[in-house]
Amino acid sequence: MLEKDSKTSLMNEEQRFRLLIDAVVDYAIYMTDPSGIITSWNSGARRFKGYEESEILGQHFSRFYTDQDRAAGLPQRALDTAVHEGRFEGEGWRVRKDGTLFWSHVVIDPIIDSQSGTLLGFAKITRDLTDRKMAEETLKQSEQQFRLLVQSVTDYAIYMLDPQGQVTNWNQGAQRIKGYLPIEAIGQHFSMFYTPEDREAGEPQRALSIAASEGRFEKKGWRVRKDGTRFMAHVVIDAIRSDTGALLGFAKITRDITDVTKAQEALEQAREALFQSQKLQAIGQLSGGIAHDFNNLLTVILGNLEIVRKRMPGDPKLAQLLDNATQGALRGVSLTQRMLAFARRQKLTYESVELSALVQGISGLLQSSLGPSIHLQTCFAEALSPVLADVNQLELAILNLATNARDAMPHGGQITITAEERQGSDAAPDKPMAPGRYICLTMTDEGEGMDEATLASAVDPFFTTKGVGKGTGLGLSMVHGLAEQLGGRLILRSQKGVGTTAQLWLPVAANPAPDKVSVQETPQPVDELRVLVVDDDSLVLTSTRLLIEDLGHRVLCASSGAQALELHERNPDIDLVITDMAMPQMDGAQLAKLLRDRQPNLPIILATGYAERLEGFAAHLPRLIKPFKQIDLVQIIAQTMK
Ligand SMILES: Nc1ncnc2c1ncn2[C@@H]1O[C@H](COP(=O)(O)OP(=O)(O)OP(=O)(O)O)[C@@H](O)[C@H]1O
Ligand SMILES: [Mg+2]
Repeated sequence: MLEKDSKTSLMNEEQRFRLLIDAVVDYAIYMTDPSGIITSWNSGARRFKGYEESEILGQHFSRFYTDQDRAAGLPQRALDTAVHEGRFEGEGWRVRKDGTLFWSHVVIDPIIDSQSGTLLGFAKITRDLTDRKMAEETLKQSEQQFRLLVQSVTDYAIYMLDPQGQVTNWNQGAQRIKGYLPIEAIGQHFSMFYTPEDREAGEPQRALSIAASEGRFEKKGWRVRKDGTRFMAHVVIDAIRSDTGALLGFAKITRDITDVTKAQEALEQAREALFQSQKLQAIGQLSGGIAHDFNNLLTVILGNLEIVRKRMPGDPKLAQLLDNATQGALRGVSLTQRMLAFARRQKLTYESVELSALVQGISGLLQSSLGPSIHLQTCFAEALSPVLADVNQLELAILNLATNARDAMPHGGQITITAEERQGSDAAPDKPMAPGRYICLTMTDEGEGMDEATLASAVDPFFTTKGVGKGTGLGLSMVHGLAEQLGGRLILRSQKGVGTTAQLWLPVAANPAPDKVSVQETPQPVDELRVLVVDDDSLVLTSTRLLIEDLGHRVLCASSGAQALELHERNPDIDLVITDMAMPQMDGAQLAKLLRDRQPNLPIILATGYAERLEGFAAHLPRLIKPFKQIDLVQIIAQTMK
């Protein structure tokens, strides 16, 4: 009874155990004999290997292996391992009945008789991990693709940092932009790409803490390459966090925007230069126009003052008033001349000028006008080529520059004037000059210098820092205008508290112009003439008439070209025509042409306020520069009637 009981319970136990194993569908659980012949089969095995128990019992388990693995002897090796090590565990591809493959996790345990120690067989548990394997494969593949993608980007440096800022990987772009190989960069702290100044200021740490606290950091700044050169970088740092929010590190993307930045800067500079030149041109036109009108007014004032002086009784008090008025008008003349110079509209006489001789010639004047506290030093290259310029205006320009230098050194100091031959391309890269040889006259002072804003406006007409009544603000305007009109350039450089350098670039005279023969002869007295005066400005017309009549001539007045032609027609005894140049409808040159067509040897004088470009035969007519004095009239009439 007891035996039977224990037998049934044993049976039950075995049966229950069998039932349990058979119920497991997620694992293939089966046994083999010591040689590997299958001796049991469960439903899990049936499910994912596809064999019924009846067809598989008695078969060798190696049939589940691929041909390749079988040829390599893997099945036997697995059994051997299980025997020797008490257990075999591994993963690999296995073959289903229908020939498809599945990824399996296999455990093989040897079954040993506990009493005799003999090997009874093996217990095999296999799990189908195909789904997990596939997911892993896909992830690995996409990770690999992603790594490849990041790795092959060359325009951006893309790399990662650990939470402390140590570089953990390095792509090709990083290598290209920063110049470090992966082995040189990985493991280093990313602050090594910063400039020493930024490092000192704690920039790298600041960038990381902003990225950590705000999730992202973005900025432009200078970075240093391996070779020590700097580049302008656009940097983005993103914090990388785990699902739980722990900081894993940072992703860093850097772009080299040096070229873009440079191009932008160049564009801005060009724009600024264009704006400056347009501004100067506009002011030039304006001040040229004003100066022109002023010239006419001053002509009238000076002319009338001269007549009054002649007709006035000899009262010394009145004479002094007249002197004052004349002085005032003459100051006006010099002002308008500076304005005309700025507008590049003054009449220049071009001649070949030896700069060293010219500066030598005015050094006495310079020294006396600069005063004893200024030490003037000159240093000229030997055998300097002559320049093409107007001597008087050039002297004035040098005087203006020297005066500015003196004013900048109220407590005295040194002014150095040097001159050397240079190429036009050396002048200024942003505003190139016409190619060719130039003489660069440089005047350097050690005065107070100018800040950027003052320097930018220094050439503007009427810009002065010297206070009302002290400076006209036309000194540099005149120098600038003269230089440009001569085909050269005025270049100012200055630093606040250090000093100023003014460079006057003048083109070298192509072939030395013949020395000017000065025609300063004393005018011969001229017989009484019948003079036709033409001017559209009635005030100028009247004062010119008075001046000429005062010289003992008879005057006919016309206020336009048409009227002048008519008067000429009716008065065949006209000896001389003095006509204004700028007039509406018909200008002086056109009138002169028509008159000459009628009467080819008629003497004609052109009165002009500034250096208009005259074409054709008008360019050869004698010119009377406004404003003129009576003596100018005497001289030009004498010359013309000779
Ligand atoms: N060598 C210099 N050092 C410092 N500042 C200068 C120098 N030259 C010119 N400047 C600045 O440029 C301004 C303009 O100079 P500019 O010669 O045109 O006129 P000004 O000297 O003020 O007047 P003026 O020439 O009629 O005496 C000056 O007022 C001064 O502020
Ligand atoms: Mg000045």
